[in-house]
Amino acid sequence: MRNVTVENVTDVVVEAIGASQDIPDRQKDIMTALVKHLHGFCKDVNLTHAEFMQACDFLARAGAVCSDKRQEFILLGDILGVEVLCDMLSNPTPNGETTGTVLGPFFRENAPVLPHGASIVQKSFDTEETVFMEGYVKDAQGNPVKQAVIDIWEDAPNGLYENHDPEQPDYNLRGRFETDENGYYACRAIRPVPYPIPSDWTAGEMISYMGHHTMRPGHIHVMIAKDGYRTLISQLYDSSSDYLDNDSVFAVKENLIGEFQKTGADHGTDLYVKFDFVLAEQSLAMAAE
Ligand code: BEZ
Ligand code: FE
Repeated sequence: MRNVTVENVTDVVVEAIGASQDIPDRQKDIMTALVKHLHGFCKDVNLTHAEFMQACDFLARAGAVCSDKRQEFILLGDILGVEVLCDMLSNPTPNGETTGTVLGPFFRENAPVLPHGASIVQKSFDTEETVFMEGYVKDAQGNPVKQAVIDIWEDAPNGLYENHDPEQPDYNLRGRFETDENGYYACRAIRPVPYPIPSDWTAGEMISYMGHHTMRPGHIHVMIAKDGYRTLISQLYDSSSDYLDNDSVFAVKENLIGEFQKTGADHGTDLYVKFDFVLAEQSLAMAAE
């Protein structure tokens, strides 16, 4: 094609996909849709060349700040609601399974393995409220899922995750627990507080370009893994938290909201929350792929 025009450019590029070498159907579908949507976007907003160059610079700066401690692209995807959308598309819950939600950029592998009911708090803060959290991990038929591994992580009362706060001990407020024969788990944690997502770089630029805010409601992250089941990546929200109705990353689901009750004394904590999780069978994960 020697004469590309505004009218034909999308068809010309789409025809080039897979034209010089065979590519898998999925790859072809993804590239075709990407080109169509990107071109549609440029036409919708009549994107100027200067704006295109600004976007390239933005992406280069986002990439340059990424490291094993920081993933700016996850943040950008979260601010645009893309991570939560992909999660919903990949993890349907037709049988009452617990809804997943975003992983976010603060997960760390290899958290300390802790016994039932142990505390993930290594450093105390004046304002903290301790909480005893317990419940059952089950399958969709209500059977216990035993020996499931539950990763739990949360921010400190200063709104920071330990890996972004030099004042906190390594792996503070992170732990890995295992369910028992009845699918029961228990841990001691603290009431999670709302916090702003990192906004010192390109994510902050995008959120202010959108005219949105940076805050997330208080939540405790969970990741539950067990062979034969789809790994559940989710969050437990505090029903009394601010920002449940206007989360900066759109990750709140009604059925992930728990009551942090003031009846923790039995467990030596300020608060108590019970929350059960229902895992999907692995076959459901395959069906969605
Ligand atoms: C989080 O919950 O840790 C999180 C999720 C998305 C963006 C930033 C933080
Ligand atoms: Fe978080």
